[in-house]
Amino acid sequence: MRTFAVVNCSELVTLAGPARPRVHREMRELSVIHDGALIVRDGVITHVGPRRELQLPPEIVDAGNKVVMPGFVDAHTHPVFAGNRADEFEQRAGGATYREISAAGGGIRSTVRKTRAASEDELFAATSRYTQWFLRGGTTTIEAKSGYGLTLDDELKLLRVIARIGPIRAIPTFLGAHEIPDEYRDRREDYINLVIREMLPAARKLAEYCDIFCEPHVFPVDDARRILRAAKEYGFKLRMHVDQLQNSGGAELAAELGAVTADHLEHTGTSGIEAMRNAGVQPVLLPGSVYALGSKRYPDARAMIEAGLAVVLATDFNPGSSPTPSMPMILSLASTQMKMTPAESITAATFNAAYSLQRGSEIGSLEPGKRADFVIHDCTDHRELAYFFGVPSAATVYIGGSRVA
Ligand code: NIG
Ligand code: FE
Repeated sequence: MRTFAVVNCSELVTLAGPARPRVHREMRELSVIHDGALIVRDGVITHVGPRRELQLPPEIVDAGNKVVMPGFVDAHTHPVFAGNRADEFEQRAGGATYREISAAGGGIRSTVRKTRAASEDELFAATSRYTQWFLRGGTTTIEAKSGYGLTLDDELKLLRVIARIGPIRAIPTFLGAHEIPDEYRDRREDYINLVIREMLPAARKLAEYCDIFCEPHVFPVDDARRILRAAKEYGFKLRMHVDQLQNSGGAELAAELGAVTADHLEHTGTSGIEAMRNAGVQPVLLPGSVYALGSKRYPDARAMIEAGLAVVLATDFNPGSSPTPSMPMILSLASTQMKMTPAESITAATFNAAYSLQRGSEIGSLEPGKRADFVIHDCTDHRELAYFFGVPSAATVYIGGSRVA
């Protein structure tokens, strides 16, 4: 039994409000309390309000006149991989494209080779380094995908690493359909059958969601439909990488299949947006990958917000297209490149993200009954999180009421 209060918050950014994903102007309403206090008992928030209205317990955490906010919920990451791709990064700086590097056997497949060669403990050590990075940027929950194993045993190895992640909360997603591995290049049907018949049933014990890289040169919509229908039959909920490199109707497929999210969406147009709205699919926008690939084609966040979609922002942390674990960096990109206001971005990176992981009743805002996953940021105004960029984060982070960073 531990009860404490957090006081002396320049802004207590609660995001209190309707218990459903936020749309339109609601995304700008952060429910900020000035001189607010937060009371936590046994890892759960019990009271939130102006300090003078609350009866404070003896144990006090002094926020030092800084911003106190819910931890970021990063709803799209690939944190389990061996090695890195600094070599390809240098090639891209010299003019090579992501598509060309991948067609020549690099890209995802080069990370797969290294990841297969690594033991579970080696991967866990690498991933633990990255989870510290997430925490230091103020992230308290990540969605974590497999996808660099691409054999039954290696995919299960990655999912076991995800199950060991802590103290950050990690929600597991199976991404066996991330790429056609080297040994199946001229028999892709066999790989799809392996995913459907062997990997899906085995992965179901370790993963909550199933994802796929839906692109014409990887898994085109017809393959994606077949794999994801099978995934649904096994009881997976769906998230999808769609329309990242071109518009192939991926957003429409996500709507047709009732996916929980459609992610990337750099090339999605009006009909995809319309389909997502009608089906209640949440868009997960990943501006870090556009920035790092230098493609300059950001998803049309404004059109999505105007259409009433409950937009989510995430890092897409991975060794190829988006090597950043920093949600503050993503907030900066959202404001400067996609014209989302800082408040909209914060809603997309906390509250709406929690709903996109079907954890809206547990995390994503500071309200009584929710888990005490909160962050004291080194600033006095929440807009500074998006405004300053490239600053080393100095966040103080609590998960379930315990200080973890
Ligand atoms: O979300 N596009 C597919 N998957 C990742 C990239 C993975 C990689 O390049 O290793 C993404 O961008
Ligand atoms: Fe991704």
